[in-house]
Amino acid sequence: MRSILRDYKQARGEQILSYCLPIIVDGKVQGRLRPLTHESIDHEDVIKSLMEWRVAAGQWFATQFPPNEEGTRAWAQHQIIDMDDRILFIIEDEDHTPIGQIGLMHYDETAKTCEYDNLLRGRKGRYGNIVLHALLTLGGWSLRELGVLKGYLNVLSDNARAIHIYETLGAVEVQRTPLRKEIEGEVIRWVPTKDQPDGEPEREMVTMVITREAFIRRFGHEIDLDNGEGKTWT
Ligand SMILES: CC(C)(COP(=O)(O)OP(=O)(O)OC[C@H]1O[C@@H](n2cnc3c(N)ncnc32)[C@H](O)[C@@H]1OP(=O)(O)O)[C@@H](O)C(=O)NCCC(=O)NCCS
Repeated sequence: MRSILRDYKQARGEQILSYCLPIIVDGKVQGRLRPLTHESIDHEDVIKSLMEWRVAAGQWFATQFPPNEEGTRAWAQHQIIDMDDRILFIIEDEDHTPIGQIGLMHYDETAKTCEYDNLLRGRKGRYGNIVLHALLTLGGWSLRELGVLKGYLNVLSDNARAIHIYETLGAVEVQRTPLRKEIEGEVIRWVPTKDQPDGEPEREMVTMVITREAFIRRFGHEIDLDNGEGKTWT
């Protein structure tokens, strides 16, 4: 099944339409998820958007670093395209304007688990609630195409917006890891503390889990679970 992730990332310009996942709300297409591909990371505007969005939202990720196009391209190549358990989609609105990103990593095809990651809205889309529907689209696709049974989410404890969206999806908190801040030059990292802190930890990483059953119970009526082989993943 990892080969599915490879296929999406190797899609060429003329094939890309069949690898985009439509974001459908109440029967109407409000946008799409477009996979980040080998080919697309050669485009300066794609790399620029990824870089600018990540810099603007830096405080909500465990590592903050200064902007750099070269570094962003290297990250896209080595951490996304070359990793066979990972994929990133660009969220586009209905006229195909890129507005954000959403991804999946640590896909374990035996255990059928993954971590949904890298959610970010870089600019406002035409449809207000697109982030939630982008997550539903990715979630449905991962159940249908990858057979995912359990998805993890890691979110900083003070990120109320993201936690609210994940709870709406049916995710529940399963773990909290105290973090401490490490500064190295211009890079800030929030790393797990080895020892239990005396007082309140500076920040915490909240791990949430969403199961296939919980997702289908809430959203089964809204998402397409037919994988095209006559088999419906329930
Ligand atoms: C997280 C993110 C993708 C959410 O997208 P968004 O389009 O801003 O989402 P919204 O503004 O619709 O907010 C999402 C929900 O949180 C709620 N919310 C907003 N601020 C909130 C707060 N302070 N406390 C609790 N809930 C809050 C909103 O009301 C909304 O819920 P609703 O749809 O039920 O009204 C976006 O804020 C973002 O890109 N943040 C920076 C990157 C990031 O944090 N990524 C997640 C890493 S784990």
